[in-house]
Amino acid sequence: MTLSESLPMTAPHAVDLAALPRDFLWGTATSAYQIEGAVDEDGRAPSIWDTFSRTPGAIDGGHTGDTACDHYHRWPEDIALMRELGTNAYRLSVAWPRVVPGGDGPVNPKGLDFYDRLVDGLLAAGIQPSVTLYHWDLPQALEDRGGWPVRDTAEHFASYAGLVAARLGDRVTQWATLNEPLCSAWIGHLEGRMAPGRTDLTAAVRASYHLLLGHGFAARAVRAAAPGARVGIVNNLSTVEAATSGEADLAAARRMDGHVNRWWLDPVHGRGFPSDMREVYGVDLPEQPGDLDTIAAPLDWIGLNYYFPQVVTADPDGPAPHARQIARPGVPRTGMDWEVDADGLETLIMRLHQEYGSAPVHITENGSSYPDTVAPDGTVHDPERTAYLTAHLAACARAARRGAPVAGYYAWSLLDNFEWAYGYDKRFGLVHVDYATQGRTVKSSGRHYAGIIAAHRAG
Ligand code: IFM
Repeated sequence: MTLSESLPMTAPHAVDLAALPRDFLWGTATSAYQIEGAVDEDGRAPSIWDTFSRTPGAIDGGHTGDTACDHYHRWPEDIALMRELGTNAYRLSVAWPRVVPGGDGPVNPKGLDFYDRLVDGLLAAGIQPSVTLYHWDLPQALEDRGGWPVRDTAEHFASYAGLVAARLGDRVTQWATLNEPLCSAWIGHLEGRMAPGRTDLTAAVRASYHLLLGHGFAARAVRAAAPGARVGIVNNLSTVEAATSGEADLAAARRMDGHVNRWWLDPVHGRGFPSDMREVYGVDLPEQPGDLDTIAAPLDWIGLNYYFPQVVTADPDGPAPHARQIARPGVPRTGMDWEVDADGLETLIMRLHQEYGSAPVHITENGSSYPDTVAPDGTVHDPERTAYLTAHLAACARAARRGAPVAGYYAWSLLDNFEWAYGYDKRFGLVHVDYATQGRTVKSSGRHYAGIIAAHRAG
């Protein structure tokens, strides 16, 4: 019996399920480095995250993705968990250094074989794969040749994307080029809190440009290799509000909105890079003729990752965009210290729909970390995550009711996993992972999600 069959159909009263389309995709999401482990098996080469996680002090607890959730070996068990949840979609990422270990050049057949088996396993379980081609694990060999700040990386990304699409495109239709390029560019190259750990504005701006160019090149390569592919890009967006109505804070909010939202949305929607932000950064873009058209390749769908809102104040002495997030007292927060504001998700979906006239929107990530504990009876009770999930699904349904084309929701994450610079102590999973034994336990939030999915299906 699946989890959903064992649940009463009463759970989801807070979500207007009738507003969601009948073919809504109910999914979970993960990424390669966060769950696969097996970092030196079957020909995989190091990525920038293997390097960064070995940098003293970079990761809490000195954790690495070496073993992670051992998904590379346990994927059949993990697909069985997806079935238990009743999901009909799964967002995974392909590890570039597993497939093309040198970044360009020879293909590693064993790497491709792994994803081939995984895709077949998903389809056999009735679960539609949604494949992200880049979730931050640049082959270290390419970083050694300059990484995202150099144009060649965008070209190599397209070649890799094309060959993955050629292999999987007969079974995978939903493709994302990049996951959260903001994090790669701003956090990885400007703030230095993620791989490759640089703090250089010029490198960061050039990386942002080449990431989006790589998106455009890759979109073309995927479509050429797999006619019928539906190609999108995944951005993490935030609502941005000024801390006060003072002129300086209002301008700071506009800059932060440019930094986290418009810089990523405008170019892919054919509007070019926002001129106010070009001025803020003061870095020449490495533009070549035709690039903006490449970046504005048509989108079949757009991915929205949403976690928290931002309330900001001016920070003239801080790094670009000279604005900083403040912590509001009395606002609920997750274990990441991120504010909880489900209305923000509705606002962002409506913004994509109304301001950008966007393609169908998939909520490609949304979720919360809390310090879960396993009860003596072996269960994991996580009411805060359950409430977070329900509130955000209700927000999606409200946006759908208002006419936005909301096509799917992927809970972040299927499993507790390697939360980047925070290591394993931050748990986002609907399924608890005991890292000592690799035992998996569906949390009460996972059961709740299963109930919502079952109710929508029954409705
Ligand atoms: O774990 C990450 C994921 O890799 C990208 N989006 C945000 C998640 C939570 O921080």
